[in-house]
Amino acid sequence: MRVKEGDIVNFTLKNHPDNENSHSMDFHAARADVLDEFAEIKPGDTKQFSFRAEYPGVFIYHCGADSMAEHISRGMYGVIIVDPKEGYSKDFPKPDREYVLVQGDLFKAGTSAEDMRDGKNWQATLVNGKVFHYSPVHDPNASQFLESEPGERVRIHFVNAMINEAAAFHPIAGIWEQVWDNGNPKNVSWGLQTVEVPPAHGLSLDIISPEDRDTNNAIVDHRMKHALNGAISVLMNYEGADPKKGRGDQLILR
Ligand code: CU
Ligand code: CU
Repeated sequence: MRVKEGDIVNFTLKNHPDNENSHSMDFHAARADVLDEFAEIKPGDTKQFSFRAEYPGVFIYHCGADSMAEHISRGMYGVIIVDPKEGYSKDFPKPDREYVLVQGDLFKAGTSAEDMRDGKNWQATLVNGKVFHYSPVHDPNASQFLESEPGERVRIHFVNAMINEAAAFHPIAGIWEQVWDNGNPKNVSWGLQTVEVPPAHGLSLDIISPEDRDTNNAIVDHRMKHALNGAISVLMNYEGADPKKGRGDQLILR
């Protein structure tokens, strides 16, 4: 989802009558009542609420129904980007391309909610729903990778949807030119290597490749357990990069 600061978000949750579990919606971009708007609803029920997106940035949303550990780790999460109302500026320049990366957990099939909560039977790291989604080096079936022209400013909007563990977000063979904590233009840092991203947090990070040559980056969670179990995404910077990727409806590559 993408809205502008100040927009009203009208949200309806329908829990299909054939479902077995209650579900809910928790927008980190909203100020609301956890016992009202964010409360879970039973199968067959519907609820509606609205909120104004008052803070710019990159926010997770997720199901908060019991057991939250199980609902989140089964993929009930996503991203809402709230663009700043003042738009781009010297301190928050317009990027040439943008990509959204959401990192999550994969547990072995049949793992109980309690074991998920306690981190047992953890199997792999997901990036936008798949293991090594954008790494043809590690997964011969991975057909997608991020790309840009040499010298372009690439903005990564990153959300950590893992239930218990932080991500150590690092671009191998690159440096984060600027990082905006929570994706808010006021929270700028310069020239960072590795950024710790706690569970249920998001940020925006820019990387600029050398303009005089083709290069490649591997964007990873530098915790080896996370990287080598799925959290490696390749960014290829080369002359003739696909002009559609990282623009329009291709911020999330599928
Ligand atoms: Cu749920
Ligand atoms: Cu939350």
